[in-house]
Amino acid sequence: MNETLLKIDKVSRHFGGVYAVDGVSMDINSGGIWGLVGPNGSGKSTLFNTILGLYHPHSGGVYFKGVRIDNLAPYQIYDMGLVNAFQIPRLFPSMTVLDNMLVAARGQMGDSLFNSLFLRQQWQEQEKGLVEEAMDILDLIELGGHTFSIAGELSGGQRKLLEIARSLMAKPTLLMLDEPAAGVNPILGKKIFKKLHELSGRGTTFFIVEHRLEILFEFASWVYVMDKGKRVAEGKSSDILEEPAFYQAYPGKE
Ligand SMILES: Nc1ncnc2c1ncn2[C@@H]1O[C@H](COP(=O)(O)OP(=O)(O)O)[C@@H](O)[C@H]1O
Ligand SMILES: [Mg+2]
Repeated sequence: MNETLLKIDKVSRHFGGVYAVDGVSMDINSGGIWGLVGPNGSGKSTLFNTILGLYHPHSGGVYFKGVRIDNLAPYQIYDMGLVNAFQIPRLFPSMTVLDNMLVAARGQMGDSLFNSLFLRQQWQEQEKGLVEEAMDILDLIELGGHTFSIAGELSGGQRKLLEIARSLMAKPTLLMLDEPAAGVNPILGKKIFKKLHELSGRGTTFFIVEHRLEILFEFASWVYVMDKGKRVAEGKSSDILEEPAFYQAYPGKE
């Protein structure tokens, strides 16, 4: 517990002359919810994409579990347990919730058709385990009652929960989420974060970009603030609200 999971070491990434990320360092330790906030254009997405291997930094390094990853391809980083919710294949609206969960399971997609034809029994055993696991996660995220519903018939909020549930099927060590509470009502947004907080006690650490500061601040154990490509503040939620740099990044928030 509490060793450094992800180390972002003086990372810079520019586009032409624009420094989207400028000498940013952050440490994410295992356990809990880690927040990343900042106004539009402050470099959050560029930093996320750099961690996920979609961009390579122009200087600095990214380390996951002590291994340098900034020269790796996205799938290699994914295989190490660093997962982005959007890497999971998109929801299939005409399939059941359960089937959508099974499709998202790590390593299952390509194998199952082959195995179902040639290694039926072994496949069935494995499939049974996966079904149990999927139902477990669905229960936890309060979608258990919708296991056999058609995914396309879920409400917007339930779909959001399903997206999160599906990314958990990949058994991530670190799960990165870009705005899990966007587009859902505040009560559900809070409920989603409450669930993530519970899940963070079961072996998955979360690194989350969220614009709804009041919800993030309630559940995050540590928050990083970016402004104009730089890390301008970090700390516990309550301490961030005492930081002048936070109010410089968010003029008008009092
Ligand atoms: N692919 C790109 N090409 C050119 N400029 C980009 C690109 N991606 C981001 N930027 C610029 O980098 C800066 C940071 O953007 P971004 O990382 O998307 O910020 P945020 O996610 O915090 O809103 C912005 O000035 C943006 O215009
Ligand atoms: Mg962004």
